[in-house]
Amino acid sequence: MNYDIANPDLAEGGARRIAWAGRRMQVLETVRERFREERPLEGHVVAACLHVTAETANLMLALRDGGAEPILCASNPLSTQDDVAAALVADGIPVFAIRGEDDSTYYKHINAALDHAPAITMDDGADLATVLHTDRRDIEVIGSTEETTTGVIRLRAMAADGTLRVPVVAVNDSATKHLFDNHYGTGQSTLDGIIRASNILLAGQNIVVVGFGDCGRGVANRADGLGASVIVVEVDPVRALSAAMSGYRVMTASDAAEVGDVFITVTGNKHVLRMEHFNKMKDGAILANSGHFDIELDLASLRAESTGRRQVRDNLEEFDMPDGRRILLAAEGRLVNLGAAEGHPADVMDMSFTNQALAAEYLVVNQDTLEPKIYTLPSEIDDHVASIKLFHLGGGLETLTPDQKDYLSGWQQGT
Ligand SMILES: NC(=O)c1ccc[n+]([C@@H]2O[C@H](COP(=O)([O-])OP(=O)(O)OC[C@H]3O[C@@H](n4cnc5c(N)ncnc54)[C@H](O)[C@@H]3O)[C@@H](O)[C@H]2O)c1
Repeated sequence: MNYDIANPDLAEGGARRIAWAGRRMQVLETVRERFREERPLEGHVVAACLHVTAETANLMLALRDGGAEPILCASNPLSTQDDVAAALVADGIPVFAIRGEDDSTYYKHINAALDHAPAITMDDGADLATVLHTDRRDIEVIGSTEETTTGVIRLRAMAADGTLRVPVVAVNDSATKHLFDNHYGTGQSTLDGIIRASNILLAGQNIVVVGFGDCGRGVANRADGLGASVIVVEVDPVRALSAAMSGYRVMTASDAAEVGDVFITVTGNKHVLRMEHFNKMKDGAILANSGHFDIELDLASLRAESTGRRQVRDNLEEFDMPDGRRILLAAEGRLVNLGAAEGHPADVMDMSFTNQALAAEYLVVNQDTLEPKIYTLPSEIDDHVASIKLFHLGGGLETLTPDQKDYLSGWQQGT
C-alpha cells in the first residue's frame, strides 16, 4: 500500500484515540450500522482532504463500512495527528499527511490522493477541489463535498465564474453542521488551543474576537463563560449589533488593538489584523487564528518588521517589536484549535461527519441527475441527525398534535 506518514510506530496510541472518539460519535455509528448492511458506496474510491484527526479516522472507517475505498490527505499542514495517521495506515487505509509538512509536501500529498482516481472527493477548505479544477482536470469524479465556510465560499466563487465542473454538497450549509460544529466546536476548541499554547487564565483578560459569525459567536460565548471581558470586531452591522446586544463591547479593530490581551480571528478573510494594529498592541498581547487559512493575520509583515523572535512554549512564538514590546503568536497563525489542541471534540464532529458520510451517499444515489452546482443536503437529513443526537443526549422531542398541525397549516383562525 502506498502512503506517506511521519511514523508507523505511533499506530497503537492512535488506535486508542480513534476508539475513544468513536465512542462519542453515536450518530455516525448509526449510519455505520446501516452502511455495513447496505454498502451504498461499494467500489467507490473516496479521496478525503480533511484534518487528520481521531474523528476524521472514524469517518474514514464509516466510509469503508459503506463499501468505499477511502484515501486521506491533510487539509492543513499543521493539523495532522501523526498517531492517527499511523493507526489508519496500520488498518489498511492509505494516508498522505505529516504534521508540519511544508507547502510543497502538502500539495504532493493532495496529488498522491488524487492519483487513486477517486469517484468522490471530500474537502475542508477546497484545496483538493482547486487542484481538481487546475492541475488535475484529468480526474473525473461523481462529485465533491465541502466541510467548511471558507471552502464553500471558494466553491461558490468557482460556480459564479463558470469554473466549477463537478456537483458539490456544501456540508457546512447543513444546520446540524454549522450551527453546532462552527459554534460549539470552534467555541470550545479555540480556547482549548489558546490555553494549551499559553496556559494563561482567561478570566479577567480582554479577549478580542474578530468576526461574529457562527464561529465567532461560539468563541465569544465560551470566553465570556470563562470570565473574560469580550470585545467583538465586526464589519456586518447586523452581526455587530447582535454582539452588542449579547453584552459584548463592539469596537473597530484599531480601538480594540489598544486594549486587547488576546486576539482571536475567525472571519475567513485576509489581513483582518495587520501592522497598523500590531503597532498599537500591548506588550505581551497574544494572537491566535481559528479561521480556515493563516492569512487572517498579516504574518509576513509581523515577521519582517520584528527585530527578533523565539519559541517560548510549544505552539507559542514571541516576536520583538522595534519599540521593545513583545507580541506572541499561537500555532504559527494556523487554526489554533487544530495546531495547538486536538480540534473539535468528537461529540460535535459526530454530526459534521455524519453529514459527510450521508453527502457521499447522496452523490452516489443522485449521480445521474446532479449538475455542476452547489447542493445542500435535504432538511430531513438535518432532522434525522438532530433527532439521533438529541436521543443520545437524553433529550425528549415534543410532537405536534393533529389539531396543532391543522392550525399551523391554515389561515382561518385569527384574533
Ligand atoms: N477552527 C475551526 O475548526 C473552524 C471550524 C469551522 C469554520 N472555520 C472557519 O472559520 C471562519 C469563519 O467561519 P464562520 O462559519 O464563522 O463564517 P461566517 O461567515 O459565519 O462569519 C465570518 C464573520 O466575519 C466577519 N468579517 C469578515 N471580514 C471581517 C473583518 N475584516 N473584520 C471583522 N469581521 C469580519 C463577517 O462579516 C462574518 O460575520 C471560516 O474561515 C471557516 O472556514 C474554522
